[in-house]
Parts: sequence; structure tokens; C-alpha cells
Amino acid sequence: MKLSSVLALATAVTAQQFSIASDDDIKKTAAAVAWDLLQYYHGNETGQTPGILPGPPASGLGPYYWWEAGAMWGTLLDYWFLTGDDSYNDLIMQGIQFQSGPQKNFMDPNYTLSMGNDDQGFWGMTALTAAENNFTNPPADKPQWVALAQGVFNDMASPERWQTDTCGGGLRWQVPFSNVGYNYKNSIANGCFFNIAARLARYTHNDTYADWAEKVWDWVEGVGYMGKNNDALYDGAHVEDNCTKINKEEYSYNNAVYTLGAAYMYNYTNGSSKWEGRVSKLVDHGFSTFFPNDIAYEPQCETSKTCTTDMKSFKGYLHRWYATSTSVAPFLRDKVLPVLKTSAEASIKVCTGGDNGRQCGFSWAAGQFDGIMGVGPQMNTLGAVSSLLITETHGTVSKTTGGSSKGDPTAGGEDTTTTKITTADRAGAGILTFLVLGSSVSLFGWMCFGDA
Ligand SMILES: *[C@@H]1O[C@H](CO)[C@@H](O)[C@H](O)[C@H]1NC(C)=O
Ligand SMILES: *[C@@H]1O[C@H](CO)[C@@H](O)[C@H](O)[C@H]1NC(C)=O
Ligand SMILES: *[C@@H]1O[C@H](CO)[C@@H](O)[C@H](O)[C@H]1NC(C)=O
Ligand SMILES: *[C@@H]1O[C@H](CO)[C@@H](O)[C@H](O)[C@H]1NC(C)=O
Ligand SMILES: *[C@@H]1O[C@H](CO)[C@@H](O)[C@H](O)[C@H]1NC(C)=O
Ligand SMILES: *[C@@H]1O[C@H](CO)[C@@H](O)[C@H](O)[C@H]1NC(C)=O
Ligand SMILES: *[C@@H]1O[C@H](CO)[C@@H](O)[C@H](O)[C@H]1NC(C)=O
Repeated sequence: MKLSSVLALATAVTAQQFSIASDDDIKKTAAAVAWDLLQYYHGNETGQTPGILPGPPASGLGPYYWWEAGAMWGTLLDYWFLTGDDSYNDLIMQGIQFQSGPQKNFMDPNYTLSMGNDDQGFWGMTALTAAENNFTNPPADKPQWVALAQGVFNDMASPERWQTDTCGGGLRWQVPFSNVGYNYKNSIANGCFFNIAARLARYTHNDTYADWAEKVWDWVEGVGYMGKNNDALYDGAHVEDNCTKINKEEYSYNNAVYTLGAAYMYNYTNGSSKWEGRVSKLVDHGFSTFFPNDIAYEPQCETSKTCTTDMKSFKGYLHRWYATSTSVAPFLRDKVLPVLKTSAEASIKVCTGGDNGRQCGFSWAAGQFDGIMGVGPQMNTLGAVSSLLITETHGTVSKTTGGSSKGDPTAGGEDTTTTKITTADRAGAGILTFLVLGSSVSLFGWMCFGDA
């Protein structure tokens, strides 16, 4: 053997620091990845704002939009639930509460003018995760987990948000009419709504939420966002064309957010064949689209290296929400869990970067660290690794199975977000849509955003 290949071999052997061979290894790996993730968070330091990550980009403070911090607390809630490590529970409590807003619906004035339904939706889903994981309840005079999710739901179900005058219904991407993207009705905004409605139905046993979940699904399917086999989730379309000119890009978080919602509807309906069929189709499509060789992959941007900061966090939701889906829809286990394991294995292989030699990269299929570091890659691997413990949890709870969070069906408040903002203030998970479509203005009609 040549010396160079011996050295290469030695590097390859020592490079991988993490293992998922045993439950103990999984917990150790997850703990290290979580610690590295938290190094990006400064909200608990003097003079910093609790709950948020450095950003938004236009501020010059960092690359993270408001929604991604909401997603991070959800990731850490699952991390605690799955591993039992409560090291970050105080940060989680403080962070979510601080960002819950005066009307207890995640519409803090600091962010309302750049609010997308998906941004608010991600925080709402995180609050619901706290309830379902039976996380410590806030003091009685503070907003409770289920009530926060109901506050988000009530906003989304209001006629100001769910508008039937164009496209026969659906949420727009953006909330304030003056935002670019207000004229776009997309899958992620409606997917967050669907997901929250389905999970509230299962948690509270209130049929009103299930009715809305059905309604949102029917609208998304009816308008053609699911493709002709009703298993894809295309990105969205503009209201000027009555949502007929569909942007067919597919992102893994869309598949995942609907899969989890559909799995909860399956559970809520006591295992109905209707929802079983819907979940199965989404998962089959998800595997063929987002798990080539059983390794999570973002087809729209990974190979072309054009994933935005937002997109670099999608694999984490894909893993976590597929895992939780197998808990509430156990028929999925045999099919889904082995794939998630293979994918997680690929994920830890690329955690060899940074100063400490264990920062996670983004492209797992690449087989080696790709130089892309940040909150997204850390959350992705954390979600993938900790989710391997899903079969060892008691499953997410509801009001009748040990859940202790108090709800408030009237939570939330007035929608008063119609003031103009600067382009620089704009946030959003769906910002990806803007960036991607921004280069093809004439095709998708970005110039037509009416009132702005
Ligand atoms: C913020 O939280 C991190 C993670 O728990 C901790 O290491 C750090 O000491 C905390 N900082 C302050 C100022 O409390
Ligand atoms: C809103 O911004 C102000 C000024 O930067 C800050 O003091 C406050 O903590 C922020 N509130 C939230 C919920 O982020
Ligand atoms: C707009 O789309 C909706 C939903 O597809 C449909 O019900 C409605 O008839 C359409 N309206 C027009 C004017 O084409
Ligand atoms: C599911 O089963 C429970 C208990 O048998 C029943 O009370 C409930 O109505 C059922 N739900 C649906 C949606 O069929
Ligand atoms: C609903 O979810 C629970 C776990 O939270 C699970 O034990 C139960 O089997 C699920 N119901 C169905 C019909 O699959
Ligand atoms: C949920 O938390 C409450 C309050 O701590 C506790 O009483 C209850 O037993 C927990 N439920 C489960 C399923 O562990
Ligand atoms: C069920 O939820 C709806 C929608 O929020 C609410 O109007 C209704 O009061 C709730 N019903 C019960 C029994 O809580």
C-alpha cells in the first residue's frame, strides 16, 4: 500500500466521531450535536433577545429568519422527549414564551410586518409539540402550549386569512397584504394549517379541527397542488391566475408536514382506510423523491448547491415528522424506520467539519463533509439521530392519554397586519419561494403583486 493511501485510510477511520450503534451511542451522539447546535444560540445572553437566532439576514446579525428558531425549539423538544436530556428545557421554555406575542398567537409586533402563515405556523407546530410531548407547563398566568396552537389556528381559520374569493379558498403565503408573496397561495402555509388542525383534533377531540383539516386537504388537492396522483406537494401558485399556473417544485418539508398531519388524522379517525391511503401515498412518494438510496436528499437544490439557509434545515423536519408519524400510525413502522436509520447513518458520516472536527455537513449523500455548517445541518442530524429512539417513547399524548396542557378555544387575536414594510424586513420559511421564483419573474408573475 502506498503511504498516501495509508494516510487517507487513517483519516477516514478517525474522521467519523459519531456512532448510532446502540441506544447509548445514539444519546451521546445526539447530545454532542445538540450542544454544537446551541452554540449558534445567544438569546440567553445579556442584551440579546430570547427565543431567536442571529438574524434576519437584512439586519446583518446573522442568516436566520425568525421561523427557524421556532423550528429549533421544536427540534429540541423532540430531543428531550426522545433522549430524556433536559439540559435545554429552560432555554426552550424561555424562548417559546418570549416569542408568543401579546395576543398569545406568535404575532409579536417585532415580526408581524414580515409574517408569513408558514412562519407563524412553525411556531404554532412547536407549541403543539410541547403539548404532545407533555413538556413542563408554563405558569398559569402565561400562555399554555395548546392554547398557543389554538391561537394560531384561530387566525388561520378566520376569513381574513382563509380567503375564498380567489382559488376557491386557501391561505396566502404572506399575512400582510403589502408583502411580496401575498399573492401566492402555497403548500407550506396551508400545510402548517392542515398539520395544526389535525393535531389539535387528536389532542382536544374537538371535531371542528378535524373538519378544518379535511377542508384544507380537499382544497390543496382540488386546486391541483398534489399532482395528478395526489401524492406530490407542489410549491404553490398565484392568485392572479386563480392558482392554475402551478410552480411544481417539490421540497421535503412540504411532504413531511402533510405526512405528519395525515398520520394524526389516521390516528384521530381510529385508523380509517381513507387516511391510511393518504399517508401511504405521501410516504411512498416521499421515499422516491426525497430518499434516493434511503438517504435524505433535497432534490430542488442539493446537487446544484443552491439551497438557501431555510432549505438547509428541511431534512430535520423530514426525519422527525416521519418518525412521529410511525408513532401515531404504527402501520408505517416496518416501512419507514429502516430507511430513517440508513439515512441517519449517512448523516453522522458527514459530521467531521469545523474546529472541533464534528460539525455536521448538509449533503449526506455526498458521503463526506461538504463544508456547509450551521443551524440547519445541526438540526438535521440532531433530528435524524434522536428520532431513532422513537419506538422507546410512550408516544405523543392527547388530552385523554396523559396530556396536561390546557387549551383555550378562543385564543388568539385580531389580525391587524396591513401596514407596509420594506423588502429587507421580509422573513419566512417560504422565502425560498421568493428567491427561487425571483429569477423567473415573468414566468410566475411576481410583478403582479397588486396593492404593494
Ligand atoms: C445559555 O445557554 C447555554 C446552553 O445551555 C449555556 O451553556 C450558557 O451558559 C447560557 N448562557 C447564559 C449567559 O446563561
Ligand atoms: C422586539 O425588539 C425589541 C428591540 O430590539 C427587543 O427589545 C424585544 O425584546 C423584541 N421582542 C421580541 C419578542 O423579539
Ligand atoms: C378558481 O378556482 C377555484 C378552485 O379551483 C374554482 O372553484 C373556481 O371556479 C375558479 N374561478 C374561476 C373564476 O375560474
Ligand atoms: C374513535 O373511537 C372512539 C372510541 O371508540 C370513539 O369515541 C370515537 O368517536 C371514534 N372516532 C372516530 C372519528 O371515529
Ligand atoms: C394512535 O397513536 C397511539 C400512540 O400515540 C397508538 O398507540 C395507537 O395505536 C394509534 N392508533 C391507531 C389507530 O393506530
Ligand atoms: C404529563 O405531565 C403531568 C404533569 O407533570 C403528569 O401529571 C402526567 O402524568 C404526565 N403524563 C404522562 C403521560 O406522562
Ligand atoms: C371546538 O373548537 C371550535 C373552534 O375553535 C370552538 O369554536 C368550539 O367552542 C370548540 N368546542 C369545544 C367543545 O371546546
